[in-house]
Amino acid sequence: MAFDEVRSLAVKLESDIANGPIVPTVTPHEIRRHLAARYDFTNPIDLDEVVADVETMLRTWQVHVTHPRYFGLFNPSVTVASIVADALVAMYNPQLATWRTSPAANEIERHTLAWLQDKFGLPPTAIASFTSGGAEANLSAVIVALTRAFPDYGQQGLRGLPVSPTIYLTGEAHHSFRKIAHMTGLGRAAVRTVATDHRLTMDLGDLARRVAADRRDGCAPFMVVGTAGTTGAGAIDPLPELARFCRSEDLWFHVDAAWGGAAIVSPRLKRHLAGIEAAHSITCDAHKWFSVPMGAGMFFCRHREAVDEAFRAETSYMPGKTAGPTHDPYTTSVQWSRRFIGLKLFLALAEHGESGYVEMIEHQTRMGDVLRGALQRAGWRVVNATPLPLVCFTRDGLDTARFLAALYQRQIAWMSEVRLAGGEPVLRACVTSYRTTESDVEWVVREMGKLV
Ligand SMILES: Cc1ncc(COP(=O)(O)O)c(C=O)c1O
Repeated sequence: MAFDEVRSLAVKLESDIANGPIVPTVTPHEIRRHLAARYDFTNPIDLDEVVADVETMLRTWQVHVTHPRYFGLFNPSVTVASIVADALVAMYNPQLATWRTSPAANEIERHTLAWLQDKFGLPPTAIASFTSGGAEANLSAVIVALTRAFPDYGQQGLRGLPVSPTIYLTGEAHHSFRKIAHMTGLGRAAVRTVATDHRLTMDLGDLARRVAADRRDGCAPFMVVGTAGTTGAGAIDPLPELARFCRSEDLWFHVDAAWGGAAIVSPRLKRHLAGIEAAHSITCDAHKWFSVPMGAGMFFCRHREAVDEAFRAETSYMPGKTAGPTHDPYTTSVQWSRRFIGLKLFLALAEHGESGYVEMIEHQTRMGDVLRGALQRAGWRVVNATPLPLVCFTRDGLDTARFLAALYQRQIAWMSEVRLAGGEPVLRACVTSYRTTESDVEWVVREMGKLV
């Protein structure tokens, strides 16, 4: 088998990483000195030698996000199938801008996206594409929503509008939306921060008041973003109520399920995403809870015609359309040249099957419960509420920065700190590896007890 070697390398690397350190100690100067001493690019170097050196650099000088004790920012351990997929894609280098250039790859992506689109409860007439990640999917959502709400936006830009469009989300929503407001010309001030309740989910009363006040002030509310699994605390906004509100107010309802969206495949968890089927658009990242390498996001949209309008392009230098009901991705998405992003999800899904994914996702959720329970028994105070495997916690008098420095220095685990609702910093631990075991979790909590 051509990929036996990649497969056995990936498996060996998995165990090497699991048995090694998690957090590096290195300065920029040290790395720059190493690079400057070896690579001035004047003379060729044997590939084996460079690869060995790069592997050593990666092994020594990075936080190992695929380590079973990495409890971090949604960066997953990756399945062997998805690693093989990325290598295969690099070898064939298919160009997915047009259907005609890469029929097989385009259809594999379409088939994979249709599977997830159906799980989300979107109709078969919806349209979907792979993106570089969640930020690009969220950008796509804002562009399409603007295009649908303001027919002159595409041609005249925002300056052609008599009103100022506004977006509504909570302070816990992903901050890519602030950059998107900047990039699209909406301006960061167009983003309205809606209050949250004690569970850090959107306060519907505050949303309604803000939309009404903005309409009175001559603004043009056009979009509400509900997050299904916030980055900081894994909170899930009240999606059914948001869907209802958006319908009654004629607003675009986007669900950012970049991490939490994968829960839709789990019979036990999917009820927490109820309401997502009413979304106009959805962001879901394969490179988060679907455990494939970066970058693999997905954008789903109910309104195919708005997507076509937002990303239309015509030029004589691109291969013409093939007969039949095909869309060329360069005319239905942000990207032009396009990598075969979807193969890593397709191959992993095909190898593990849906049941394999359910097992991975539910296992991580169980490990989240084990972590929550072990922390509470050890005297920590859990400060977030979510059915997803993300625990935010603290204890009286904790200096989070010092605690984390000690945690890293002893190579116990990687976790981060976060301020929820603008409060004091607390610790944040998310189970992002399907290889994390109960004994990993219990050992980490025991070792943490020795640091306080
Ligand atoms: C809820 C949410 N949305 C969007 C993003 C951005 O995704 P990406 O980093 O893939 O661009 C993230 C990243 O963590 C996220 O947590």
